[in-house]
Amino acid sequence: MRHFVAKGLRRLGFEVEAVASGTDAVARYEARPFDLCVSDVRMPGLDGVQTLEKLRGLDPDALVVLMTAYGSIQSAVDAIRRGAFDYVTKPFEIDELAVAIERALEHRALRTENRALKQLVDARDGYAGLVGQSPAMRSVFATIERLRGSEATVLIGGESGTGKEMVARALHATSARAGGPFVVLQCAAIPETLLESELFGHEPGAFTGAVKRKRGLIEKAHGGTLFVDELADLSLLAQSKLERVLETREVVPLGGSTPVHVDLRIVAASNRDLEAAVRDGSLRRELYFRLDVVRIQLPPLRERREDVPLLVDRFLGAAAERLGVKKKRIGFDAMVVLSRQPWAGNVRELANAVERLCALRPEADELGVLDLPEEMRGPIGATAGSDPRAVGQLDYEAAIRGFEQGYFAQLLKQTGGNMTEAAALAGISRGHLHRKTRQLGLQGEQFRG
Ligand SMILES: Nc1ncnc2c1ncn2[C@@H]1O[C@H](COP(=O)(O)OP(=O)(O)OP(=O)(O)O)[C@@H](O)[C@H]1O
Ligand SMILES: [Mg+2]
Repeated sequence: MRHFVAKGLRRLGFEVEAVASGTDAVARYEARPFDLCVSDVRMPGLDGVQTLEKLRGLDPDALVVLMTAYGSIQSAVDAIRRGAFDYVTKPFEIDELAVAIERALEHRALRTENRALKQLVDARDGYAGLVGQSPAMRSVFATIERLRGSEATVLIGGESGTGKEMVARALHATSARAGGPFVVLQCAAIPETLLESELFGHEPGAFTGAVKRKRGLIEKAHGGTLFVDELADLSLLAQSKLERVLETREVVPLGGSTPVHVDLRIVAASNRDLEAAVRDGSLRRELYFRLDVVRIQLPPLRERREDVPLLVDRFLGAAAERLGVKKKRIGFDAMVVLSRQPWAGNVRELANAVERLCALRPEADELGVLDLPEEMRGPIGATAGSDPRAVGQLDYEAAIRGFEQGYFAQLLKQTGGNMTEAAALAGISRGHLHRKTRQLGLQGEQFRG
């Protein structure tokens, strides 16, 4: 039966690997994914349904077509329920099996395409899941759109948390490779000693502990995109090997001798100044030039504050979904305060801040300025006059005092504790300023340098 199916499918142009048991099938699949698995139902050892379940464990999208004996329809129905895509009843013509296979593959292609499309459609005021309306982000979206279907290598720059990985994913989702894998190589996270085997894979026995053949990340990205994150953290040796892969489109696993052909697109990112890395010798010039074909530079959030409200709205929605509660609104004043933060950690920091706000006030429908942490909004009362909940919480004197505290603290911060300059800025006399700061427990020295 196995030989009949393998031979028949090969003749129809399929690439087939035949194995003698469910256990072998799972082991092969672990070593490298296949588009689809055809399996008998009744087998010694793992039966067809158990094999199916193991494959699903490895790859939730694994496609399985089962061959069942006439009369065991009930188990076939059961198999479909457990995730088999289709079944053919023995005896069958090879064409019948081929039709089931083609249909399964088509179905998967459609599903991937739908996912990619849905990602694009979901993006109002943004693109492919990326939110933004600032001129800088619009120009990023336009570049991604211009690259639609392109194979060009892209280098993404930008501070930490500006969305480099999201852009890389958007580039993948809009490429002809959208149906293929998106593999992340986190250069900084992999210890030097493991890096080469992670990247290039190894044959059994390549080194102590290498029991099974392992596919490297490069091989895993075959047919898709390899995202090289923190490019400049890659060792010089690994850099030169990667360069070689780009040149030859082949990878040789450690301990192996036969090169494996790989077809992949590289998108690389770094939050470092790569020209400087080239100058100080930590990034190979050749690799840099090879990768720097198209450049996308993501601006820090503080240079596109007009994106903050859209991002906050997105993160409020995400937080509500995650916490299983209604999406909260945010007060105008609170939004203004959020828009003015320095956001050194960029979009990631903003996302975390919004998530934390939502978690701290699970029952609130609207988040106001008083819900923000003091280091963001300044001392209580600084903005209290316009927050409805402040009235009742603070009496008039306390609110005024809060406002003055916030105002004078900010004034002294901006002038670096210079009382003369502060008084001039506020339009009051130095004596008045001195009295106020003494009353409020503020001292000019606190704000110096
Ligand atoms: N334009 C955007 N719209 C929506 N979410 C965004 C946007 N930019 C970034 N994010 C979100 O911010 C977080 C950080 O983004 P990402 O991981 O892509 O940043 P990064 O530049 O790769 O950061 P790092 O350099 O620290 O790895 C993610 O949760 C991402 O979903
Ligand atoms: Mg990243």
